[in-house]
Amino acid sequence: MTKRFSPFLLIALFLATTFSCSTEKKEAQQTNPLMRNESKIDSLIKLMTLEEKTKLLHASSSFTSGGVERLGIPELVMSDGPHGVRMEHGRDWEFDNITTDSATYLPTGITLASTWNEKLGYKYGTVLGSEANERKKDIILGPGVNIIRSPLNGRNFEYMTEDPFLAGKMASGYIKGVQSQGIGACVKHYTANNQETKRGSINAVISERALQEIYLPAFRRAIKEGNVYSIMPAYNKVNGQYCSENKYLMEDVLRKEFNFKGIAISDWGAVHSTKETLLHGVDIEMGTELANKTRKNPNYDEFFLGNPVVKLVKEHPDYEKFVDEKVRRILRVMFAVHKFDNNRPEGERNTKEHHELARKVAEEGIVLLKNENNILPLNDDIKTIAVIGDNATARHAINGGSSQVKAQYEITPLEAIKKELGDKYKIIYARGYEPNKENAVIPELEKEALNAAAKADVVIYVGGWLHNLPGNQWGKYRYDAEGKDKTSYEFPFKQKELMNKLSEIKPMIAVIFGGSFARHDKWVDNTKAILFAGYPGMEGGTAIAEILSGKVNPSGKLTFTIANKLNDYPSHKLGEFPGNGKDVLYREGIFVGYRYFDTSGKDVMFPFGHGLSYTTFDITNIKPENKEFSKNDTVRFTVDVTNTGERDGAEVVQVYIYDKFSAVKRPVKELKAFKKVFLKKGETKTLSFELSNDAFSYWNPLKKSWVTEPGDFDILVGSSSTDINQTATVTYK
Ligand code: BGC
Repeated sequence: MTKRFSPFLLIALFLATTFSCSTEKKEAQQTNPLMRNESKIDSLIKLMTLEEKTKLLHASSSFTSGGVERLGIPELVMSDGPHGVRMEHGRDWEFDNITTDSATYLPTGITLASTWNEKLGYKYGTVLGSEANERKKDIILGPGVNIIRSPLNGRNFEYMTEDPFLAGKMASGYIKGVQSQGIGACVKHYTANNQETKRGSINAVISERALQEIYLPAFRRAIKEGNVYSIMPAYNKVNGQYCSENKYLMEDVLRKEFNFKGIAISDWGAVHSTKETLLHGVDIEMGTELANKTRKNPNYDEFFLGNPVVKLVKEHPDYEKFVDEKVRRILRVMFAVHKFDNNRPEGERNTKEHHELARKVAEEGIVLLKNENNILPLNDDIKTIAVIGDNATARHAINGGSSQVKAQYEITPLEAIKKELGDKYKIIYARGYEPNKENAVIPELEKEALNAAAKADVVIYVGGWLHNLPGNQWGKYRYDAEGKDKTSYEFPFKQKELMNKLSEIKPMIAVIFGGSFARHDKWVDNTKAILFAGYPGMEGGTAIAEILSGKVNPSGKLTFTIANKLNDYPSHKLGEFPGNGKDVLYREGIFVGYRYFDTSGKDVMFPFGHGLSYTTFDITNIKPENKEFSKNDTVRFTVDVTNTGERDGAEVVQVYIYDKFSAVKRPVKELKAFKKVFLKKGETKTLSFELSNDAFSYWNPLKKSWVTEPGDFDILVGSSSTDINQTATVTYK
């Protein structure tokens, strides 16, 4: 249980202190909700002793940071994670093991981002915020926006994409949704936590241009557009300094350039110093490990930001101002999440609406990668379907690391396929493979699967990745999981062999789960249709069955490039993943994902932004409103989108820019806008876009600023990064 303090004491203290009503009124009108209580905060800080202030700067239990009882300042209560409120920890690390802490298990970040639907991102956030509120949390530790630099990163499933613009947009919607419920979001992990290997110590060596153009923009947008209340610096080092005390990231960028007014909360156990952290690092030190290795009753006061701060400030009284700044940022968030009033909306949990939203996100986030001869939706000639693969019956919510959720329920693909298609078709099931430590074929299971396929008209193979072997949440046998990267770009348990065989004997449809795909092999060419599901949440099975039956028309788009082989990814081609144990050099610079593949003309299996529908769309008629623009101007244009097929459906119209003549090497495509549009069959809609001058700029490290070069730019509009239908040229004067 968290300690609760009486708000009345605090109100009495406010009344006892004097601050002018007119200042208060002015503050109330501040657009940034974090800035509406500065005078109250001034008064409060004046009342606090150094020891009391320091209580706020570190954990007071596994998921709370400290309060001050004497002044009615409560603890802040945090919870994982990005796609559902995690089950309850006690004040120490152990789980409470109660039956009342289940939650809505939403599709994970990668599936959410594949919807390319910002409004859905907002609704997703409201569900998470509402459930966090019902569970008496103040801050939910998400969204995760780290860039997908390699398919091997164990946490890609929690993250969103290889593209910084898409990540920032989807995160901002999510954050606004969470915060509409009176709860704070916490965007993480700032920054370059793009691998789990040696995450606690690895030093990511990244050029300033790559940081500014690739690794920082999602955080910038989360702050500027999403108005996020808190941020979590990453475990790793960037350019020689731990993120939690990194002067460039924390002071120059976060607090000065981004003008961030909220709290930086350390990742758990990620603080390494008192002085550096006090002067320019995180505001709150979280974790249970440092002071006491056993995690049992850690002495939180001995954390780096505990008693050592008191000692340091006593030696250097002028450092107290740094303590005050941190306390100010913490109190701002406390006011914004209504710790001192009762103005939070009512929270709700596990409602029908929440579960429906989980389904909706899955329906829009599952990506149809291929559909030869329109094998999908399933037609009436089919009599028997063989569902094969362990992921047809697996449940994923409780695994993966800190983002684990105790789902109220999780519908498996097989359950949903039987329910949705069972009346029409005979459904037989064979497991095909079994997660096993040896990573081997299990001959009996393979035989059973081949027999099932022989009896069926079509195979629906449900496989791909899983988080970890059952019961191996933090152990050796982990794949899409925290704390460990994948060791191979091949699906585990020799699935490739089975898929190759199955796809040769019967028409096969593959449904792939995971935070990444796998290398190209025969089965990819043989398989008639492929659905990439990511981790589609508690209603994922339903969404898969509805897409197979045609009840739902797929509209997801890939948020990362699927390359033919591992060494095609630039970080691997250069031998720079996961580094040498000490450093990882980001030598590919800004050429990450499609920025690299498109610029170098390298073939890929499925490109960024790709995703099919059961209908077809035409994007036509690009009309720039102005062909020239200048510094304070925008580029405005319209395009028409028509549903030219036989079904209602949705298309994601993607806008990329290309700088035709540049002093520096720039990618041939950079995503700068997108819109998802729902069209009835035969319907046309005109979409308007507006790009500000920022959309055309690059980071100039010499000038240490963003530069838009005079000259021509192409605006490329299409339905994926490689399927560009319309181009217009505009000139920056
Ligand atoms: C993870 C964070 C998480 C924290 C608290 C860390 O291990 O990196 O993402 O929020 O634990 O569980």
